[in-house]
Amino acid sequence: MAAGSTDRKIDKLIDLLVKNATVVVPGPKIASEIGVTRQQVWTWMEKLRLLGVEIRGVPAEGYQLVTIPDILVPSLVRSELGDNPIGRNIVHYFRIDSTNAVALKLAADGAEHGTVVVAEEQTAGRGRLGRVWFSEKSSGIYTSIILRPPLAPAAAPVLTLMTGLAARKAVSTVTGLNVDIRWPNDLLINGKKVCGILTEMSAEVDRIHAVVLGIGINVNHSTMPAALEEIATSLRMEAHRTISRVQVLVTLLKEIERHYQMLLKDGNAAITERWEAASTFAHGKRVRVVTATGEALATTMGVEHSGALKIQYDDGRQEPLVAGEVVEVK
Ligand code: BTN
Repeated sequence: MAAGSTDRKIDKLIDLLVKNATVVVPGPKIASEIGVTRQQVWTWMEKLRLLGVEIRGVPAEGYQLVTIPDILVPSLVRSELGDNPIGRNIVHYFRIDSTNAVALKLAADGAEHGTVVVAEEQTAGRGRLGRVWFSEKSSGIYTSIILRPPLAPAAAPVLTLMTGLAARKAVSTVTGLNVDIRWPNDLLINGKKVCGILTEMSAEVDRIHAVVLGIGINVNHSTMPAALEEIATSLRMEAHRTISRVQVLVTLLKEIERHYQMLLKDGNAAITERWEAASTFAHGKRVRVVTATGEALATTMGVEHSGALKIQYDDGRQEPLVAGEVVEVK
């Protein structure tokens, strides 16, 4: 078991309650089935309640779930995934600094392709360009997926586009909302960011050891912090209803599997062409290009098969953008 990850017995406890959702399950039965004391069962019930899981306690009788919980524990997620390699091994945390940090460590320790790290809350969620990712407890999806692609490090940009494309499909399928992708892979709804992706990699010159796809989705936040409210939103704020995080995560993992197989089988163009069709940022968008060396106004001109964004700068230069970001200029 990964250090600090959720005790498998809590996962078993949730599974037991879900499978017996129509009845009150006696405390001693729960304790004996999962192999812990009744005191431990009580402690875990309190912990789950703090996460918003509604559990009815009937004195001298036992416990019953009021609703099926929307927490991202392996027992609730894996059962929906079939035989796919992505998600066969799920490592869950109630609270962790960063799922990307954990996934990079697990990858260095030899974790298998498709391992998924997921947390209910992050205390030091990492964003692109050294930013912080706001990771409110039980509201978002904070997950990192370890892939071991048989590809060279030059494939990293297209793996990044692939992840954005898969996340877009998952979000639009579950919510029915219209989702845009801003290069390289921010998801926007009505112009505001709802999902960010941080791809990190360990590689040699000609071979990727592991790629970590870190994905943060604002799902059920009812408001965004003041500093973010102009630029960020959540699925719930846009759809005006609560969205099942389990359903979004399951759909996301299935879509990443599908798009990854497409990339391996059909090559980069299968991804970049779909990306161009899915994003209003692909062609003719007026943008401010922000890189480590400065900012400049430009117009977008499509995506290269490598994953770079073709840019026509206002000063006449035409160059592919490989690192940095673009901001729409109205
Ligand atoms: C961005 O800046 O847009 C990328 C944000 C990526 C956030 C996710 S949340 C899960 C994973 N763990 C992290 O620490 N970061 C990524």
